[in-house]
Formats: sequence, C-alpha cells, structure tokens
Amino acid sequence: MHLFKPFNTICDLKTGVLSPPGNHIVRYLADMKEMFHDREAAETMLKENPKVYEFYNVVIPEEDGHLQHCTSIIYPGKVGKEYFMTKGHFHAVAGTAEIYVCLAGKGLLLMQTEDGQAEVLEMYPGSISYIPPYWAHRTINTGDEPLVFFGVYRGDAGHNYGTIEKQGFSKLVLEEDGQPCIIDNPRYNPRGGD
Ligand SMILES: [Fe+2]
Repeated sequence: MHLFKPFNTICDLKTGVLSPPGNHIVRYLADMKEMFHDREAAETMLKENPKVYEFYNVVIPEEDGHLQHCTSIIYPGKVGKEYFMTKGHFHAVAGTAEIYVCLAGKGLLLMQTEDGQAEVLEMYPGSISYIPPYWAHRTINTGDEPLVFFGVYRGDAGHNYGTIEKQGFSKLVLEEDGQPCIIDNPRYNPRGGD
C-alpha cells in the first residue's frame, strides 16, 4: 500500500483562488467560441477575447480511492444574450458523481444525460449541488459578480469534453428582460457523437 501524505490547500472563499494553485487553467472565449449560440456575437467579441472562466485543480493521483478537488471561477458576462458558462463535460468514467459547493456569486448548474434529459439547479453561496453519475454538467453565471464554487469528484473520473463539443446541451440559458430564461437549444444534436 502506498501511503499518500495528508495536506492542506488554502482557498480564498471570495475569489476561489487556491494556494498553492495546482493546475491552473484559464478559458478564453477563443477556446470555446463554438459553444455559444450567437456565433456572430462571439466572432465580434473575439477582438477582445475575454476570459470566460478559470479553475484551480489540486494535484491528486488520478486513481480510484482518491478525491480530486478544485475551484472554478466563472466571470460575469454574455455572448449576445447567453451568459458566460463553462464548456461542460461528462466524466471519462461516466458513472462517477461530483459535488459543487457554491462559495460566491450566483448561477445555474445545467445537467444532462446521454439521451438529452436536462435538469437545472440554482447555485448561490451555501448551495451544495449533487451531480449524480452519468450527468454532464455545465455552470452558468447569471449574476454580475464572479460565480465561485468548489468541486470534488472521484480520483480517476477524468473529463470527457468531446461529447458536449459535438452534441451541445439540449438547453440554453439566455437573458430575457433581465432574467435568466431556459430554452431548447435549436442546435442540440444528440447524434453528433456518432
Ligand atoms: Fe465534473
């Protein structure tokens, strides 16, 4: 048995910044422009190429028995009417769950099964969202401050971004009259992964 030593990571609860930062990944609009519904608006915004979100992943062995954990920060903003959001993913080991604890800001957690069933949960400071096995997950900042949350998931779960890149989510979250509005995604293509 390999004994792994316990350790602390310090999280700034307002900003989500971890110390030490571990794997720090930043996603700019150019990294995900095809994921937004309004391609014209995305193309125009590329001149400034805003930072959409970033995350800090504590470095943990990618093995069952360990627990990966991370913080994510989604910036406020919109592409056309669509709020800034994460790319969204299934886990590479699809039957693994995840927990998100919201630390700051507000938003929505959009989840989807392989056959397109969708569920949405609200995120606000103190909300603990359970993402069961087999649900893809995307977070959306519907507020005007950064949405910050902590996530924890099985060590070997991994990320499958490809299915969502090809198929999209079945729902979009747009701002209508100043409020988040969930609509069907006309570009959702459940056969896109075939
Ligand atoms: Fe995940």
